[in-house]
Amino acid sequence: MRKKVTISTLLDKKGKEAITSVTAYDYTSAQILDSAGIDFILVGDSLGMVMQGMPNTVSVTVDEMIYHGKMVRRGIKYAFMAVDMPFGSYVSLEDGLINCIRVAKETGADAIKIEGADPVTLELIRRLLTAGVCVLGHIGLQPQQINVMGGFRVQRFSNSDKLLDEAQALENAGIKLLVLEGMESACAGRITESITIPTIGIGAGVRCDGQVLVYHDIFGLYSEMTPKFVKKYAETGGIIKAAAERYIEEVRSGVFPSDEYSY
Ligand code: KIV
Repeated sequence: MRKKVTISTLLDKKGKEAITSVTAYDYTSAQILDSAGIDFILVGDSLGMVMQGMPNTVSVTVDEMIYHGKMVRRGIKYAFMAVDMPFGSYVSLEDGLINCIRVAKETGADAIKIEGADPVTLELIRRLLTAGVCVLGHIGLQPQQINVMGGFRVQRFSNSDKLLDEAQALENAGIKLLVLEGMESACAGRITESITIPTIGIGAGVRCDGQVLVYHDIFGLYSEMTPKFVKKYAETGGIIKAAAERYIEEVRSGVFPSDEYSY
């Protein structure tokens, strides 16, 4: 009998079995992933790019995360669910507390995810934990920092001392899982072996405790860019396009709807 995946289920997997995760942004895609047996569904602010067609995640709002989070919640029976806090929604402690608690409450997510490890973020994590909100971290390539970093930059092993300090500070503050994005495998391996909570990698190699990918990337629905770390498990976009072309052709030629599809 399949059981609901809780944060304890995911914590217990460290060192035993890899955690599987994919993003989702609506009811139908969440339902497909959940029925496939995925451990963890993330409502990522990557929705700014793959759902809204924006060049990055910076414009995504708290209201939009809540809108998508509510849809995903209804599609999940078993998987653990987390929602990203968007750019600018946790810059001050006061705003962070209000926005994070609002997202947790209104979406019904099991956790929220925050990028970075600056002092305000660490204090926010401690306060949220006290309030009963489960928090996940995210370091390495931080898409919300794109305008400061000057693009999507892979983190080198030479930067691993700093990243390890951030990972340990986040673990001490109380996060339960840590996303490692866009870094050399050796760097992610070093962090994974040095902390007791699970790491979930995206573009961070095989030495993480689990992997996450963006729904539209792995199912071939997003063609704006395909980073090296993306493996496409299906070319769904091509299948949908070919089906749409057939439909257009059949409607124009009067083949559809035939008697079979008519009352
Ligand atoms: O926004 C997102 O989809 C994410 C994942 C890439 C980890 O943060």
